[in-house]
Amino acid sequence: MKPEKAAAIVSTGRALPVGRVTNLDLEEIVDTNDEWIRTRTGIRERRMVNASETNADLSVSAARLALERAALRPEDVDLLIVATVTPDQPLPSSACLVQAKLNAYNAFAFDLAAGCTGFLYGLHVADKFIKTGSAKNILLIGVDILSPIIDWQDRNTCVLFGDGAGAVVVKEAKGSGGLKAARMFSDGSKAGLLYIPGGGTRLPPSGMVVEKRLHYVKMNGPEIFKFAVKIMAESTQQVLEMCAKSPQDLDYLIPHQANMRIIEAACKRLGIDLSKVLINIERYGNMSSASIPVVLDEAVEEGKIKSGDLIAMVAFGAGLTWGAALLEW
Ligand code: UT7
Repeated sequence: MKPEKAAAIVSTGRALPVGRVTNLDLEEIVDTNDEWIRTRTGIRERRMVNASETNADLSVSAARLALERAALRPEDVDLLIVATVTPDQPLPSSACLVQAKLNAYNAFAFDLAAGCTGFLYGLHVADKFIKTGSAKNILLIGVDILSPIIDWQDRNTCVLFGDGAGAVVVKEAKGSGGLKAARMFSDGSKAGLLYIPGGGTRLPPSGMVVEKRLHYVKMNGPEIFKFAVKIMAESTQQVLEMCAKSPQDLDYLIPHQANMRIIEAACKRLGIDLSKVLINIERYGNMSSASIPVVLDEAVEEGKIKSGDLIAMVAFGAGLTWGAALLEW
């Protein structure tokens, strides 16, 4: 029997705004301090767009790099997925704006909103299109511009997030490599742990919404923390078991970069040494859908990841959503 087709990430790219916000900068804005932020989260600085940089701009820059490295032209792309919760505007999708800027006129394009798990949801979806033969050259972008939706008066959230974009080209795997297993989950009953109450169709933009700061992110950090540690370990274990592998077989774990203490606790549960974990939270904070593709691109560029490496990726986010993927590079 012919083996089932599998999707492989064949190239990567990233784009980060040049604007840096350090913990010391934040001390000027809210009642916080560098020591608290470093020891409780692992973050030292994050990137932030200026007034003229947008979600679509960063997406296009990251995408151009990934396409070039895959030796593809924009018109070769037949599916364009933008995983994001921070589109440039409510309508149309960021994916359509990115398509136009890239001139990827042969693609059909859509946004995928799954909080910080967006990139992994996108990879899972891309894999299905490859398996069915419905798409051959998929451009998957994980991008989030959190700075405009963060309440800069709320120290519980404003110290955590950053802006950025990562892109990958997904094609059918050659040989034995590619995506080996993926499991995605959501639990909408926990929507109240991380949400923006206003600005949608239930509470459309109004003076009242802005006055009450309902257009900003609200978060129950400690509850998400406990949840994240548990599911990061569990879902990584699940995809490993689907392939009869153990944490010791992994060359790298790429976790969503939300909090260094979450990463450490999850690795402890899995028995994975931190030397096998790709981490950049110190420099960028939590970039939501961009966090995994950006740290992946950095590792590829540094030559850390080699052909045949076994890599697990795991993420969680608003929804709540979570999931893990196992791939052979
Ligand atoms: O992609 C998913 C996105 N969300 C997350 O990943 C969030 C996951 N949760 C977390 O990362 C952590 O829960 C936080 C970093 C958000 C908070 O850390 P924590 O250790 O859970 O702290 P806490 O919320 O229990 O707060 C402890 C203390 C509180 O003071 P009191 O009540 O003990 O006096 C907070 O008011 O720390 C205080 N605090 C701060 N102090 C200085 C909270 N934020 C800050 C701050 N600077 N920025």
